[in-house]
Amino acid sequence: MMVASGAANARRILELGPGTGAFTEALARVMPDEARYLGLELNKTFVDRLHARFPSMRFECCCAQTFDFNTAEFDEGFDVIISGLPWTAFPEELQKAILGNVLPHLARGGRFVTFAYVGFHKLSAGQHFRRLLGNLLPNLTKTEVVWSNLPPAFVYVGSHEALASMKS
Ligand SMILES: C[S@@+](CC[C@H](N)C(=O)[O-])C[C@H]1O[C@@H](n2cnc3c(N)ncnc32)[C@H](O)[C@@H]1O
Repeated sequence: MMVASGAANARRILELGPGTGAFTEALARVMPDEARYLGLELNKTFVDRLHARFPSMRFECCCAQTFDFNTAEFDEGFDVIISGLPWTAFPEELQKAILGNVLPHLARGGRFVTFAYVGFHKLSAGQHFRRLLGNLLPNLTKTEVVWSNLPPAFVYVGSHEALASMKS
């Protein structure tokens, strides 16, 4: 996820669902010192722990689909949007609502990255999500499967250049 996102060269990073902080910890390691980070997490217990563990990073306790980016002081958008959200467990309306709220804030040249577990991506929710993401980010690619991950997974990567408007 770190390599695919290009976080090592990012100036502004948005993480969706940082949870227990596995990606956050990796981001803190690789992102440039001057980079700014915003994490949107709906679970207050996780947010309190993230604040304590990463005091220089910004976390908001909120839903990614309703967060008001006008209050976020990230006017130029994000170079990287990295997601740990369990997309295939979400109904299609929620997938659309989250992507519709965050993707307009992907900066020109920016990348959206999210992962999928091998096998789950073949289920109908996984196929729906892949189609939705592919419609919004027409140049969507996927990485090789990381077989050493448990369960094995791969990463979807989409870039701003091909950002399409949300279809209803
Ligand atoms: C798979 S878990 C977190 C994965 C994360 N990389 C970790 O290390 O824990 C997904 C996280 O997304 C959060 N979440 C679920 N729906 C959300 C939403 N609509 N907005 C923001 N966070 C959400 C959950 O509370 C959970 O912490």
